[in-house]
Amino acid sequence: MTSNALTVPAVALGTWAWGDSGQPGDGYFGSRLSQSVLREVVEKAQSNGFTLWDTAVAYGMGRSETVLAQALAGYDRSEYQLSTKFTPQLAGDGADPVADMLEQSLERLGADYVDLFWIHNPADVARWTPPLIPLLESGKIKHVGVSNHTMEQIALADRILGEAGLRVEAVQNHFSLLYRGSERAGILDYCREHDVRFFSYMVLEQGALTGRYNPANPLPEGSSRAAVYNGILHRLGALTDRMGAIGADRGASAADVATAWAIAKGTTPIIGVTKAGHIDGLVRARGIELADVEIAELEALADAADVDTRGWWEHEMQ
Ligand SMILES: NC(=O)c1ccc[n+]([C@@H]2O[C@H](COP(=O)([O-])OP(=O)(O)OC[C@H]3O[C@@H](n4cnc5c(N)ncnc54)[C@H](OP(=O)(O)O)[C@@H]3O)[C@@H](O)[C@H]2O)c1
Repeated sequence: MTSNALTVPAVALGTWAWGDSGQPGDGYFGSRLSQSVLREVVEKAQSNGFTLWDTAVAYGMGRSETVLAQALAGYDRSEYQLSTKFTPQLAGDGADPVADMLEQSLERLGADYVDLFWIHNPADVARWTPPLIPLLESGKIKHVGVSNHTMEQIALADRILGEAGLRVEAVQNHFSLLYRGSERAGILDYCREHDVRFFSYMVLEQGALTGRYNPANPLPEGSSRAAVYNGILHRLGALTDRMGAIGADRGASAADVATAWAIAKGTTPIIGVTKAGHIDGLVRARGIELADVEIAELEALADAADVDTRGWWEHEMQ
């Protein structure tokens, strides 16, 4: 129930890319992830306190949830938190599509509750928010969040839950150095003022902001992320070089600095980890304190790159 406060680690872990892990999946990331590598990721993450796992039925049409459950096998349910989503576009035609989708996710996840359940996008806030109430009341979901919602849509969902004495406890939006619509729209301020946790996704812009990829070493050919980012990598060099230099002073990488930036903005980044070594980066990022002047410099370089990385599924935040 929402009476238990939502407590989360400094960084949450995203498993969208796990949906196409070497099996027929959605081919979005072009990653070839093996179950043994993902198990290593889980073990390293869990032992370093990164215990909140974000997934969705939409990631590889259930495959991400299945693979995540396999990778978490053997851990006690109390040792990790599960975050998954209701995706309106995948709603079935039963009497309660939200409860049905949750049941199917629980089955794939091998769980009897999820810690955080999201409405994936604001396809129809008035329709899809009320069915969350009985799920919260039954304890099948512990906390509710809304994703890709504008300020008005967040407030509407919160009003609907408020009639049952419940509330929106978390917001999950695209938020990176290159994409700061939620800050401009006042959503970060709203979350701070209302004790709502803001989760930022695609902080690394699917790899484009890690410093690992550049025009000479582009994202995997044929993947959807390559189609989105390879054409703009040449505009990102000044920013990723500066992130790399700021990181080097602290024994960290450009990716660690991108993550540290999202933490410094008061958000909980959801990082799409695909390698055990990425967890070392998150440990470093958790310890980095960026100076205001560094934050301002990075944001100015990001603005100068002048790119629009809004996902095809997203609407403008204002
Ligand atoms: N609610 C929504 O609509 C929505 C939308 C998008 C994402 N999300 C959530 O947010 C999560 C994160 O987004 P994302 O996975 O799309 O992209 P992301 O976190 O911006 O980038 C992930 C990619 O960055 C690289 N990477 C990850 N951790 C790294 C580290 N510590 N150091 C260096 N490189 C690292 C990996 O690339 P390589 O594999 O090439 O190394 C990985 O595939 C998703 O998994 C999902 O849970 C939610």
